[in-house]
Formats: sequence, structure tokens, C-alpha cells
Amino acid sequence: MKLIYLLLFTFSLSYASVVTDYLNSLKNEVKKENSNFKGFDKKRGEKIFTSKHLGKKGKEISCVSCHTNNFTQNGENIFTGKVIKPLSPKVNPKRLSELKTMKKWLKRNFKDVYVREGTALEKGDVITYILSKD
Ligand code: HEC
Repeated sequence: MKLIYLLLFTFSLSYASVVTDYLNSLKNEVKKENSNFKGFDKKRGEKIFTSKHLGKKGKEISCVSCHTNNFTQNGENIFTGKVIKPLSPKVNPKRLSELKTMKKWLKRNFKDVYVREGTALEKGDVITYILSKD
């Protein structure tokens, strides 16, 4: 039994450190351009996540279009019809647990919605928003 707790504990620590490390590196990037930078903001992140833009294939979409704004439930890729598992690490422990996956999808998904890559500030804000929700 003790071993299980120990494993769970180690797992949750390692999960937290991947996304925390990523946020820290984004923060350092932002600070290079703005030495007054105070920190990421979930309100700004919410706007990035929920506002609609003329995105891929000229469609007016937001991040919500595929992920919904309830991160404990499945979403659906509006272009392919495929189910997307919940975005919240609380119900889907694989989420935000791998640097490569996070970077890859943020890059793609910003292109889907904003037709450009996200800035370090935008990526930090939007991750902060995702982590702030249940
Ligand atoms: C066209 C549909 C679509 C849109 C729009 C979209 N996403 Fe995604 N997103 C996906 C798919 C597909 C995946 C990967 C499949 C999976 O992990 O279940 C994904 C994965 C992610 C992940 C998971 C990375 C991980 O660690 O598992 C994050 C974070 C994310 N998207 C954020 C965003 C943000 C922020 C936006 C808006 C800028 C956005 N998405 C818009 C389809 C979309």
C-alpha cells in the first residue's frame, strides 16, 4: 500500500513539474522583451481560449469550438469529427504531462484559430487558464 502512495505521489510531482517548467521557460521568454512582466493571467487566457477568430479554412472558430469550455468533458474536432478527450489534467492525467505534446498542439491549434503561432505570453496565459479550471 505504501508503495502505491509513493508511486502516485511521484507521478503527481512529475506531472506538475513538466507544466511548471514549461510555464517558467515561457515566463523567461516574455521577460526578455518585457522586464516589468508580472506573471501569466487566467483572464487573458480565457479571452484567448473563448474569443472567435477567422481561422483555418476561413471558418470563424475559437479554441472552444473543438474543446468546449468544460474541460472535464470530451470535445470534438470540428474538422474531422473525431472525439477529443478532456483537456483538464484533473480528469485526464495525460494532459499537459509531456513537453513535446504540449508544444506540438499549441502550435497547431493557434494556427487553426489565429492563423499564426501563439506568442510566449499567449501560450502562458492560456495554459494558466486551463490549469485554473476544473
Ligand atoms: C480544430 C480543432 C481544435 C481547435 C480549434 C483547438 N484544438 Fe487544441 N487540440 C485539438 C486536438 C485534435 C488535440 C490533440 C488530440 C488530443 O490530445 O486528444 C488538441 C490538444 C490540445 C492540447 C493538449 C496538449 C496536451 O498536453 O495533451 C492543448 C493544451 C490544446 N489543444 C489547446 C488549445 C488551444 C489553446 C486552442 C486555441 C488556440 C485549441 N487547442 C484549439 C484540436 C483543436
